[in-house]
Amino acid sequence: MPAINLAATLDMAIETARRAGALLRVGLSQQRQIDLKSAYELVTDMDRASEDLIVDAIHTYCPGHAILAEERGGAVGVNRPTWLIDPLDGTNNYAHGFPYFAVSLGLWEENQPLLGVVYDPVRDELFSAQAGGGAQCNGMPLHVSQVATLAGALISTGFPYDYGTRTDNNLAEFNKVQARCQGVRRAGAAALDIAYVAMGRLDAHWEIGLKPWDTGAATLMVHEAGGQLSDAHGEDWGLSSTRMVASNGLIHDELLALLNTAQ
Ligand code: IPD
Ligand code: CA
Ligand code: CA
Repeated sequence: MPAINLAATLDMAIETARRAGALLRVGLSQQRQIDLKSAYELVTDMDRASEDLIVDAIHTYCPGHAILAEERGGAVGVNRPTWLIDPLDGTNNYAHGFPYFAVSLGLWEENQPLLGVVYDPVRDELFSAQAGGGAQCNGMPLHVSQVATLAGALISTGFPYDYGTRTDNNLAEFNKVQARCQGVRRAGAAALDIAYVAMGRLDAHWEIGLKPWDTGAATLMVHEAGGQLSDAHGEDWGLSSTRMVASNGLIHDELLALLNTAQ
């Protein structure tokens, strides 16, 4: 496989995310077809339309690359790069007209992130990152916050769709953290929450049950913006990790320790 021109590939991913986001923005004010994936997990016709647009672009510009996309599945490539695609992160928000959702495109190779793009079409905010090349929002460099204690932090989290049928459902952790910081937000789009950590709007995000397409883009932004990522045991974050702690680095150990008292 020839070496990837990362700058050109990032430009293509940005343009594709903008086009998919524009589609979602138009669809938001129209009648949507909504189906159930599981008891409380929705999928709309716009999830599929956005994914079709993105997959077509990748097939055209990166024909040898593997694809793992939320709605059609796929697999991580062996000896070739893989696109991790969430065509609409925050589907339940979108289906209700709650304006907090994003398109997320990440490119990984050998369990390492190369590129990431998260686009919020409502605020027209395009977050992007290239490994070793920093992270930006609409072209402006991203830096994590300087908040040094949990007591001074605004934090976000999420809950798995099978919340009601598992005992390990993040509620004990939520209860602990909420009591020790300036607020825990549960806005419903993990890729955007994690990008907000990179931007310093949030000081940390933790969540269980995440999938590679939720995290494949935004985790690189946190890293490139000077933050820290780990699994719940403090081990390095990788594609097969599911329990995430992403932070500005300064509050990472304090948050990890608190989460680990909540079992
Ligand atoms: C979901 C959102 C949500 C998170 C869930 C994800 P989807 O993604 O990111 O915030 O809590 O774990 O599955 O289904 O809207 O793409
Ligand atoms: Ca998602
Ligand atoms: Ca999705």
